[in-house]
Amino acid sequence: MKQTRVMGRNPETLECELREAGEILARGGLVAFPTETVYGLGADALNAEAVNDIFLAKGRPQDNPLIVHISSREQLEEIALEIPEEAEALMGAFWPGPLTILFAKSDAVPYETTAGLNTVAVRMPNHPLAQKLIEYSGRPVAAPSANTSGKPSPTKAEHVIEDLYGKVDAILDGGATGVGLESTVVDVSEGVAVILRPGGVTIEQLLEVLPDVRYDTALEDESVAPKSPGQKYRHYSPKAKLELYTGEAEKVVEAVRARATELESDGHKVGILTVDEHMDMYESDAKLSMGSNSDSEEIARNLFDSLRVFDSLDIDVIVGEGIEDTGIGKAIMNRLYKASGGSVTCL
Ligand code: TXA
Ligand code: MG
Repeated sequence: MKQTRVMGRNPETLECELREAGEILARGGLVAFPTETVYGLGADALNAEAVNDIFLAKGRPQDNPLIVHISSREQLEEIALEIPEEAEALMGAFWPGPLTILFAKSDAVPYETTAGLNTVAVRMPNHPLAQKLIEYSGRPVAAPSANTSGKPSPTKAEHVIEDLYGKVDAILDGGATGVGLESTVVDVSEGVAVILRPGGVTIEQLLEVLPDVRYDTALEDESVAPKSPGQKYRHYSPKAKLELYTGEAEKVVEAVRARATELESDGHKVGILTVDEHMDMYESDAKLSMGSNSDSEEIARNLFDSLRVFDSLDIDVIVGEGIEDTGIGKAIMNRLYKASGGSVTCL
């Protein structure tokens, strides 16, 4: 067991604690910190041993590479071998922000960070605490989401405490994160932008900057191996089994109601995951709204927290409604699909 310090809760000592947390990283320690997407579990990206400790603390498969977080252009030049013009355009439009771009890696980046790949995934987060922490550490900071591998990503410091207390040196509490879903991961190495993981920046936004943007075919076709190793794992999973229904709203509500009744009569403890507009249509006590149907950003912010709330209620099956998969809805449905292990019924 490590002695974990929870930092950042007192505004008067925040600056001092940020400097301490930066030193912990510089010495090879592990610090969990807020970003605008989800909380990350950080270590010095150029220190192989520190990076290995991230994999141990999370129980993360060794073949899943990490995103490197930077706070300045100089840091990018240290870790990337070359910077393609498509990447320049994307950085200009979306950094700092929830967009991760792949680059050919320099020798400074150990293979532990990239899980043996010759590319390194980089992003500049748009969160003041993350930016200061990186700056004070003086290092590029490797950080996967700060959850136990397989569980929903953390959007509050409490989620990180639940998963990693006693396994990391410090947890920086910056309150709830803004976007609530992870960054979009793109590969521009072949002249077009290929989205390997949908996230906080939508395809519609990317298309405003680059003429040719596509999804990695593996996102649509399960028989194709994903270029982003993380996409092959069952992910974002609550302890409960999740069953999803998508399609025409009336049919979906009907199907969710019928399935919940069936499961309850079989003795299951059932939770219903829905939207504000449909809350009154269910009688269950264990129903949660992710937000309004007309506000997919709100749904993105609440999604992972809702999945964790069901776990705290000891629900064994969650029956949920899907949402429209345009805009950020694409990323929401990607996470819900994975959380359900592919159990989606289209109506
Ligand atoms: O918003 C985020 O991206 C958060 C915050 C903390 O920044 N981080 C995050 O990291 O979601 P993680 O480790 O949970 O997800 C990283 C994803 C994985 O799917 C991984 O496979 C992919 O990025 N990835 C990282 N390096 C890669 C590379 N060189 N090539 C392809 N995919 C890569
Ligand atoms: Mg993750």
